[in-house]
Amino acid sequence: MCGIIGYLGKQDNIKIGMTALKKLEYRGYDSAGFATYIPEKKEIICLKSIGKINSLEQKILKSNLDFKGSPSIFHTRWATTGIVSEENAHPHCDCKRNIFLVHNGIVENYKEIKEQLLREGHNIVSETDSEIIAHLIEKFFKGILEEAVAKALKIIKGTYALIVISQDDPEKIVCARLSSPLIIGKKGNEYLIASDPIAISLFSKKFIELNDNEIAVITAKKFFIIKDSFFIKNRKPKKIGKQAEEIKKGEYSHFMLKEIFEEPEAIRRSIKGHLSPNKGLVRFGGMEIMDNKLKEIEKIIIVACGTAYYAGLTGKYMLEEYAKIPVEVEVASEFRYRNPIINKKTAVLAISQSGETADTLAAIREAKKKGALTLGVVNIISSSIAREVDAGIYNHIGQEVAVASTKAFISQLVILALFTLYLSKENLSLGNRKEIIENILELPKLVEGVLKQNSKIKILAKKYSKFSNFFYLGRKYSYPVAMEGALKLKEVSYIHAEAYPGGEMKHGPIALIDKNFPLIFVAPIDSVYEKILLAMEEARARNGKIISITTQGNKSLEKLSDDIIYIPKTLEILSPILTVIPLHLFAAYMGLEMGYDIDKPRNLAKSVTVE
Ligand code: M6R
Repeated sequence: MCGIIGYLGKQDNIKIGMTALKKLEYRGYDSAGFATYIPEKKEIICLKSIGKINSLEQKILKSNLDFKGSPSIFHTRWATTGIVSEENAHPHCDCKRNIFLVHNGIVENYKEIKEQLLREGHNIVSETDSEIIAHLIEKFFKGILEEAVAKALKIIKGTYALIVISQDDPEKIVCARLSSPLIIGKKGNEYLIASDPIAISLFSKKFIELNDNEIAVITAKKFFIIKDSFFIKNRKPKKIGKQAEEIKKGEYSHFMLKEIFEEPEAIRRSIKGHLSPNKGLVRFGGMEIMDNKLKEIEKIIIVACGTAYYAGLTGKYMLEEYAKIPVEVEVASEFRYRNPIINKKTAVLAISQSGETADTLAAIREAKKKGALTLGVVNIISSSIAREVDAGIYNHIGQEVAVASTKAFISQLVILALFTLYLSKENLSLGNRKEIIENILELPKLVEGVLKQNSKIKILAKKYSKFSNFFYLGRKYSYPVAMEGALKLKEVSYIHAEAYPGGEMKHGPIALIDKNFPLIFVAPIDSVYEKILLAMEEARARNGKIISITTQGNKSLEKLSDDIIYIPKTLEILSPILTVIPLHLFAAYMGLEMGYDIDKPRNLAKSVTVE
C-alpha cells in the first residue's frame, strides 16, 4: 500500500512527480504530500494534504509558491499506523527538518524504537511508524546520507520501500527496499524512482529494479547500489512491459465499468495460445518444466485473498470434480500462521492479480520453506509472487485499474478451468476434454450477450438502491460467485451484503429475512438447482424480495422471483464465468446510484502490500 515517488533532475519536478504519483493512486488515496530541496534557499520545503492527490494539487495552486527544486519525494497514503491526518501524511522528517522521507511498508518494532528515541529527546510529531525512520537516520547522520540510512535500516524490523533526501547532504536521493517493490527509471542524468513501473512509463521505457536489502545512491553525476557495504555492479535495466503503458477510460465513465465490459476480451487473452481443441489438450509454457513434479502431487492448497480467494474456491470444485486431486483453499493471511501440513507432494498455488499481496506472498514463502511445489496465477508480469513461485501462469489481461477486481476474477476462473483440464489428461476422455474446450471457446460471445443486459441491470440497481442489506446465495459452483457478488457490493456501494451457501440459510440467517431484505439467488440450471430452489421457496415464504440469476429458458422461477436475470446455457464448471457478470454490473451500478467513486472506494487500495 502507499505509493512513493522520487525525482532528481532539472525538469519541472512538481509536474513530473505529481503525474507519476497519480499513477500510484491505486495504492492508497487518503492523503498525499511531497518535499523538495530548493537549492537557492538551501532548504527542503514540504506540503501535505488530506484526501486524494487532487486535493494536494489544489493546495499547490492555492499556495502561490514556487516549488521548483531537486531532489523531490512524493507520497500517496493508505493509512496503516495512525489516523488519516496531515501530521500522519508523508513525507516525514527528523527534529531538525534536515532529513525527509517517504515510506511504503511497516516498521514492526516501531513502538520500542519510538520509546528509545523519545528517551533520547527526539521530537516525534506523528502517530506513524514511518516517522521513526527519519529520526533514526538523524541519530546516525554524520554528513553522508547513505551511511546513516544503512545504519538505521539495520535496526528496523518489517518491510520498506524508502526514498530519503537531506538538506545537509543535498542533490542526492537515497532509496532502499525490503519486501516492497521499488524501481528506478533513468534518462541521462535524470532519475524517477517509484513503487511500480506504471508510474515511470511516461518518463522512460526501461527501469532498474532494486532488490531486497539494497540501497541505491543517486546524484546527477553518479548512481550506485550497495548491499552490506559491497557495491553491486552492472545492474541490467529491464524493459517496461506493455501492461505499464498508459491506460485510459475511453468511452466509459469509470475504469470499473470499462473493465467489466473488457471481460470477454479478458477470457480471450487468458486462453490465447493455451488450447489445442482437436487434441483436447491444454498447454502451459510456464508449467511444463514442472510436469514431472506435478505428476507426484497428492494435494493442492490454493492461497489467495479477497476476490482471488473466491476464484480459488471455484477452482477447488473444478479440480476435485475433474482432476480428482484433493484441494484446500485458504485465505493467505490465515494459512501463513497455522503451521499447515505440507510436504514435497503438496503444491501450493497462489492466485493474485497484483502479484504483490503481502499475505499471499508470505504464504508462498512459508510453503517454500516447508518444501512444497509453489505455483502462481498472476496478472502482473515480474511481480514478487510471479518471481518467487516455481512455475506459473500469467493472466495477460492488461492492467486492472479499478480497486474492485472484476476482469481479473473472470480470467482467474478461466485459467483455473484450463489448469483443471491440464491436470485431467488421465481422468477425462478425449470427448469430455474436447467438449469442455469447445464450451470455453464459446465463453467470450456468451459473456458479450450477458453484458448486453446492462440497461436492465442499471434499472434494477435504481430499484434496489434504497435497501441497506442484501443476501447472496448459491450452491456448489455458485457459492463462490455469491461471495464475489456480495464483496463487490460492499466494496463499491458500502451496502452490507452477506453470502451464504444456499443450504445454510435455514441454520440461522433466515431469521433476518423480511420484506426489507433482498436476496440474490445464483441459480443456474445445474446439478444442485433443485436444492437452491428449496432455499428460494423458504425465503419467499418469509416475504423476502428475490432477484434470481438463472439459465435462459428456465420459466420455473417466475413466480418465486421479483426480478430475474437470464444467462446463456453452458457447462456447470463454466457457469460461474457467466453468473458473476450480472453481479459485477449490479454492484457497479448500485455504487453509481449512491453517488460514489466506484474506482476508488473509501478505505481501500488496489494492491494490499502490507500485512
Ligand atoms: O492482487 P490480488 O489479487 O492478490 O488482491 C487480492 C485482494 O486484495 C483483492 O481481490 C481485493 O479483495 C479486491 N479489492 C476485490 O475486489
